[in-house]
Amino acid sequence: MEPIRVGLLGLGVVGGGTFNVLARNAEEIARRAGRHIKATKVSARDLAKAKSRVGDAAEVVADPFAIVRDPAIDIVVELIGGDTLARELVLEAIAHGKHVVTANKALLAKHGNEIFGRARERGVMVAFEAAVAGGVPIIKAIREGLTANQIQWVAGIINGTTNFILSEMRSRGLGFDQALADAQRLGYAEADPTFDVEGVDAAHKLTLLSAIAFGVPVQFDKAYVEGISALSQADIRYAEELGYRIKLLGVTRAREDGIELRVHPTLIPAQRLLASVEGAMNAVMVKGDAVGATLYYGQGAGEEPTASAVVADLVDVTRLHTADPEHRVPHLAFQPNALSDKPI
Ligand code: HSE
Repeated sequence: MEPIRVGLLGLGVVGGGTFNVLARNAEEIARRAGRHIKATKVSARDLAKAKSRVGDAAEVVADPFAIVRDPAIDIVVELIGGDTLARELVLEAIAHGKHVVTANKALLAKHGNEIFGRARERGVMVAFEAAVAGGVPIIKAIREGLTANQIQWVAGIINGTTNFILSEMRSRGLGFDQALADAQRLGYAEADPTFDVEGVDAAHKLTLLSAIAFGVPVQFDKAYVEGISALSQADIRYAEELGYRIKLLGVTRAREDGIELRVHPTLIPAQRLLASVEGAMNAVMVKGDAVGATLYYGQGAGEEPTASAVVADLVDVTRLHTADPEHRVPHLAFQPNALSDKPI
């Protein structure tokens, strides 16, 4: 069968990671998806740099619209960020009947209702596992693993940059600015890090979690948002002396009078699991009426952890796109004897 052809919009940290993971794990991914998945066209601002990165494996273009309008492309992966050009590109891709995979939480938090509505009309998928908690498959967990439940609440650490800053300030006594500079250097922070430190990025993600958990529209403008920029070393030290850690939490809860959505620094008793989540790690707790409380933990930012979620979405879309019924249902593709031909 012909490979599924993917157009990558953007070859930054996550775009580069996606390209690498698709190439490195091509055979495993093909076995699980039922088809090879190939990034055949890439758009980038710096053409020479992009060409040196992808070699002959993909065509590099400057104009991302040349990808979303290309009839040879099956799935568009939007990784350019922002919510203006990205919105135009995603809507154009949907209008051209392409499935979309995106890591862009700001875009979906702001324009998700419009984008999901258009996708439904056109009969294409918009998948966004990478938009929330990086490599942690939390969207899939809520949508599939917990599908039997009425979700009662979701609470978690969903911004790696702020968790990294708070961890560095507490454990190494670093100042806020130094810790933020380190987070930027390590590729965790947004292009505009005020989105991280003021809680906006966490609120974008929380809004998406809330929409999935409670089946409501995306309601970013209803969220209470408070970041960590007003916290000092003294706050962190006093919390520690009293047996607490300060974490930036996002919480969404179904209440009688509506859905609660809030992001703010929270004192968590030091012995609780969430208190021990350090560095750029993310952790999300989900409480369902049948299952009780569950916890999902992993790297919430960075090149390959985020690429892991992008590629998982590509596999999902490919499974549904493919005519091969063996692979449409993951359980069939994941029967032990279907996974590998390595000798035991
Ligand atoms: N700036 C984000 C974070 C990147 O620090 O969590 C991943 O969404």
